[in-house]
Amino acid sequence: MSVAKKQYKRVTTKSLVEMKSQGEKIAMLTAYDYTMAKIVDGAGIDVILVGDSASNVMAGHETTLPITLDQMIYHAASVIRAVHRALVVVDLPFGSYQSDPKEALRSAIRIMKESGGHAVKLEGGKEIKDSVKRILHAGIPVMGHLGLTPQSIYKFGTYTVRAKEEAEAAKLKADALMLEKAGCFALVLEKVPAKLAQEVAESLTIPVIGIGAGNGVDGQVLVTHDMIGMTHEFNPRFLRRYLDLYTEMTSAFEKYRDDVKSRDFPSDEEQY
Ligand code: KIV
Repeated sequence: MSVAKKQYKRVTTKSLVEMKSQGEKIAMLTAYDYTMAKIVDGAGIDVILVGDSASNVMAGHETTLPITLDQMIYHAASVIRAVHRALVVVDLPFGSYQSDPKEALRSAIRIMKESGGHAVKLEGGKEIKDSVKRILHAGIPVMGHLGLTPQSIYKFGTYTVRAKEEAEAAKLKADALMLEKAGCFALVLEKVPAKLAQEVAESLTIPVIGIGAGNGVDGQVLVTHDMIGMTHEFNPRFLRRYLDLYTEMTSAFEKYRDDVKSRDFPSDEEQY
């Protein structure tokens, strides 16, 4: 059963704000390559995030820090070639926007020009306010990202829930408001208490999309490889697995190996 209220031929930043005002939840997933993006887009997912989680998922790094701007552009361009409906948001990777607003703008322009992405996402609050404004002034839509911001993992020390204490929760609320006022079209809240996330979502007109932030926000995002069970060693409480592809793919590869070794594959029908 479909629960979409209005059919969007193409999802835009405006559609997302409209979805929030209509009470329609926003579905967002990651993709880093053409084939996956085609399936995700075909399934009617509203927003595709070319996340810097590609650093973990595609390249096997422990953190999101090593991925480069060139690599993000490669992933984003592959995704864009597959997508007909979803809004494609591309992460600005670590080191491509933190040093100054001019560098941030240059990086955002490269993403838009070289990949064809529709918007960029940056992690952080008031520390990056000037960069966010500069990018927005150039006409590039910006999605914010607060709470657990993986590019700052060495500052946090762990991937545990953020903003449980009053002072951090107050800063998060102020940052969220600042990002909305600056002109961001949406905000990701990662791994924060559900009550706080709901308060933030209710206080903003722009959509708040949660990951590990409960059900009181305006939409949800998951890393696709996690929700289809390819990354079976990652088991946070917030993750719902819709498939167990790790097990299914392993069985398929084992069966293929056995078929090759036993000369069962290829059969007479499978050759010329
Ligand atoms: O990079 C990513 O996949 C993300 C999501 C976890 C929101 O930023």
